Amino acid sequence: MKILITGGAGFIGGNFVHYMTKEHPEYEILVLDKLTYAGNLETLAPVMDRIKFVKGDIADREAVFGLFKAENPDIVVNFAAESHVDRSIEDPGIFLRTNIIGTQTLMDACREFGIKRYHQVSTDEVYGDLPLDRPDMFFTEETPLHTSSPYSASKASADLLVQAYYRTYNLPVTISRCSNNYGPYHFPEKLIPLMIANALNDKPLPVYGKGENIRDWLYVEDHCKAIDLIIHKGREGEVYNIGGHNEMRNIDIVKLICKELNKPESLITYVTDRKGHDLRYAIDPQKIHSELGWLPETKFEDGIKKTIKWYLNNRSWWEPIITGEYIDYYEKMYGNR
Ligand code: NAD
Ligand code: TYD
Repeated sequence: MKILITGGAGFIGGNFVHYMTKEHPEYEILVLDKLTYAGNLETLAPVMDRIKFVKGDIADREAVFGLFKAENPDIVVNFAAESHVDRSIEDPGIFLRTNIIGTQTLMDACREFGIKRYHQVSTDEVYGDLPLDRPDMFFTEETPLHTSSPYSASKASADLLVQAYYRTYNLPVTISRCSNNYGPYHFPEKLIPLMIANALNDKPLPVYGKGENIRDWLYVEDHCKAIDLIIHKGREGEVYNIGGHNEMRNIDIVKLICKELNKPESLITYVTDRKGHDLRYAIDPQKIHSELGWLPETKFEDGIKKTIKWYLNNRSWWEPIITGEYIDYYEKMYGNR
């Protein structure tokens, strides 16, 4: 079995490559990644001798068709995306190109060269948000798509295209919509790694608004396990929600990180809220549990400790990232906030 993993030098894609080399040592693993600011070959260094890496853009038709012709993968798992909501608010165009046109290009190649399964890695953000005062409400696979940011709109557009390719061309597809992930190799522009990196450097911890927004956090390895199950046992044409019933307010996460690192809460700085900021995400994972037997295995208390330990032990992975272009980004986003 040959599996093409796009976006495999990013956070979740990279963890998935590590996971697949362990769980399916007999598989041929091919990674296609453009190596944008979010892609990092260091993430793949421990498994580089087990995989084939190709630098390329999923929206580049010639490159993608050339790769499929040469390699003929059996399974495609598409992680490649522009993934940061704040960046999408500043500059939506690249989100539309990569997340929508990139998905179309990959699926066109799948149609042309044949495929056993195309899997689209999507997000719970396609459902919009839930009110803070209705803890009884959850996203199911039937919840209507209702997006808030250019990022989530581009991901929802891609999901609709994937479903259209299933209905129109019978392309064997599946879609997963996961809640917020955390764990090793997470780029330090996202909440948890940013707060860990800033706290370790005794820098302010910028909390948007009042910090009351809620996310449903899942340890990245549990997400990888869910995708492995879906690509092998999931039903074609189906959407599977993935989440661990682990809702937390942002402020509580930041305080927990301060406590674990023995840093003062006085580092916390409340800054101007994100435009259109989604209030609460919460997944109902009943379908993947009852159909595929998936359940999250890592409790948040353990996962966050493991993650913090990883950042403490792997400064050589993240310290070189928070220089150069990252400093310009940080200044632009947080300088006058
Ligand atoms: P990430 O930003 O860490 O990584 C994205 C990767 O895609 C990078 O390696 C980047 O170089 C690559 N890439 C970007 N544009 C590309 C292009 N045009 N062609 C080829 N490669 C390209 O993202 P992530 O957090 O690992 O997210 C992976 C996927 O999971 C995304 O599709 C995202 O929407 C989805 N998702 C993320 C989360 C989360 O909490 N991070 C939750 C649910 C779903
Ligand atoms: P993020 O990690 O960007 O994921 P998403 O917006 O896709 O859920 O943000 C998680 C939450 O943390 C979100 O409510 C925004 C908030 N946040 C901050 O308060 N400060 C920050 O510096 C960042 C990056 C996020």
